[in-house]
Amino acid sequence: MLSDQKEPAKADRVNALIAEMSLGEKVGQMVQVSSDDGTLTDTLRDNIRGGRIGSVLNQVNPDVVAEMQRIARDESRLGIPLLIGRDVIHGFNTVLPIPLGQAASWNRELVQKGARYSAMEAASRGVNWTFAPMLDVSRDPRWGRIAESLGEDPYLASELGAAMVRGFQTDDLTQADSILSCAKHFAGYGATESGRDYNSANIPDTELHNTYFPPFQAALAAGVQSVMTSFSDVNGEPPTASVWLLRKILREKWGFPGFVVSDWGSINELVSHGVAENDCEAAQLAVNAGVNMDMVSNVYASYLQDLVEQGIIDEAWIDEMVAQILGVKFKLGLFEASLDTVDSRLPTENHLNMARQLALESVVLLKNDQDLLPLDIESSQTIAVIGPLADDGYEQMGTWVFDGDAELSQTVLDALKDSHGNSTTVRHVRALDTTRSYDAREFDHARTAARESDVVLLVLGEESILSGEAHCRSDIRLPGAQEALIEAIVECGKPIVLVIMAGRPLVLDAIVDKVDAILFAWHPGSMGGPAIVDLLFGDAVPSGKLPITFPRAVGQIPIFYSHRNTGRPPSKDTVTHVDDIEARASQTSIGNQSFHLDVDPSPQYCFGYGLSYTEFEYSELTLQPLRVKAGSQVEIDVCVTNTGSREGEEIVQLYTRDPVASLARPIRELKDFCRIKLAPGERRHIHFSLPTDILAFFDRDGRKRLEPGRFQLWVGGSSEADLIADFELVG
Ligand code: NOJ
Repeated sequence: MLSDQKEPAKADRVNALIAEMSLGEKVGQMVQVSSDDGTLTDTLRDNIRGGRIGSVLNQVNPDVVAEMQRIARDESRLGIPLLIGRDVIHGFNTVLPIPLGQAASWNRELVQKGARYSAMEAASRGVNWTFAPMLDVSRDPRWGRIAESLGEDPYLASELGAAMVRGFQTDDLTQADSILSCAKHFAGYGATESGRDYNSANIPDTELHNTYFPPFQAALAAGVQSVMTSFSDVNGEPPTASVWLLRKILREKWGFPGFVVSDWGSINELVSHGVAENDCEAAQLAVNAGVNMDMVSNVYASYLQDLVEQGIIDEAWIDEMVAQILGVKFKLGLFEASLDTVDSRLPTENHLNMARQLALESVVLLKNDQDLLPLDIESSQTIAVIGPLADDGYEQMGTWVFDGDAELSQTVLDALKDSHGNSTTVRHVRALDTTRSYDAREFDHARTAARESDVVLLVLGEESILSGEAHCRSDIRLPGAQEALIEAIVECGKPIVLVIMAGRPLVLDAIVDKVDAILFAWHPGSMGGPAIVDLLFGDAVPSGKLPITFPRAVGQIPIFYSHRNTGRPPSKDTVTHVDDIEARASQTSIGNQSFHLDVDPSPQYCFGYGLSYTEFEYSELTLQPLRVKAGSQVEIDVCVTNTGSREGEEIVQLYTRDPVASLARPIRELKDFCRIKLAPGERRHIHFSLPTDILAFFDRDGRKRLEPGRFQLWVGGSSEADLIADFELVG
């Protein structure tokens, strides 16, 4: 029996429907199949008509979707509509920056708007369910799916993930262009060992509660109505079979009212994991754990009815599982939706403008020696545009693009010619066929173009296929001969701006000192070109900040800002490089501290870092009260001044540390942020209210602890902010 205090009438309708359903029809609601060839096969038609399917994924032909819904509504015995799922990950026809890029914008409103527009485009094809946002916190840039994540920090991922949920679902799921959102992959997928996809994850319970769960809780608070399980096993237990995760935590502790879908085939993969003897046992484990819907394994369709008939699974449990699915179908208004609302609209100008703004705010300026950027038009009359990603509308869209239209993409070269074609001469050389290519035959052309130009714009990085699901790398430097290409261009002695498009942080150690400026653009999507050109020429000012740490070397991974201090943190005076150690130095001569001998222990670029064309100064940090009672809040004021000569936007970040606690806590944790725009010379007082609850952490048993004592608090422009104040939490 479904009970819903907020919407009792809907619960009544669900219960009435269940009372009429045969066991076969109930199981049907728990089955999702894929159909992606734009046609409706006779088998699919029959299965929908027979009530043997509750959801179809990957069908985006609006006519086929409309016909499928018509059959489900008009020809199946009980007229239950279908959920039509699709991976709408970062845009639909209009492609937005990859989620990791969107996270660099730290812009809740814009990220929400991005999801809203994507939902509108997807809904116009009949899609009513997206498998997004991906809320897996990850600290391993080797993992290909880091591209799809919102970075390394649970708070940033929570804020932006919740914004996406709101954008997809709105506050009225029955609207024709609202789509159901899915929080995935519950849980711990981002901790995959060695950054290799689908690998096991070993996560202490404290970390699950403190780091991996919060974005899911935030998505639930934002109203998400579906959750997807993760592929990997966590501490030996695949989430698809985890009673603890799905029943104890998700349902009982958090009160999740929606439904859980497996990942693609993750039910029958329980056999490969080694926790089920065969597909039948896999079905039993998954349904018992509370997986409502089987994504394409076909094991629910094959075994559930028998399992109930043999008395192994209670039909009342199946009723509960089905009620949760039907409850969401009612919430989406699918039973009442017009059958002819599906219309295939093209993206409008608004969507492209929004994609441009999001791309613009996601680009991070990593380096800008001698203020080379923005380019001075007078001294940049001739520009050499070199590299495999300067003019590749397909690659700039990034991973997870099924519906993106490469024709809509505007490249850096296009945008440069469009906006500055009259005032500058552009010499374009692709130089390498792909980012992976080692064929250096075009390097001479590239050198010639560089020598004949005032400035060189190198557009390098990773092709889209090098990140995303199952696309992990063990070496995350620029692939192929791109580092060699940089060397070749450096020989020409011209100022070099490097634009990098990539699906992950890269190790840039070997090239960082060779170029004058670096704009890190992630995979920026359809409007990447115009956004980057706006930044190059100062029509816009960079404001993105890193949502993830950039390591100096792969061997540092995992490296992230909110690590614990250790008993022996490295100190500047004792860190010694392998080249500086004398022969036969004694065991303790370089101190026994926590660092590698062959790399500086700091990251290349820290979390929250990003330059602007102007400068911001922080001062006058005040807290009120200095002794704060649990249950109240600390009022924080800080003054931010734009000390440069240009208007710019800054992301003001607030971090805290609990320096003494019953479990060692991270050296810093992001607790709030805001984006502000300041005119040159402008000073503004910024206010944050910090509820004490946000200072709590979870212990080994998953109990929330708010421990009295001294707290430190920093406000500034990165996780290395040095403006600090203290307060005391009293019980
Ligand atoms: C597998 C992926 O892990 C998941 O994120 C995605 O939504 C499904 N396939 C459906 O395509």
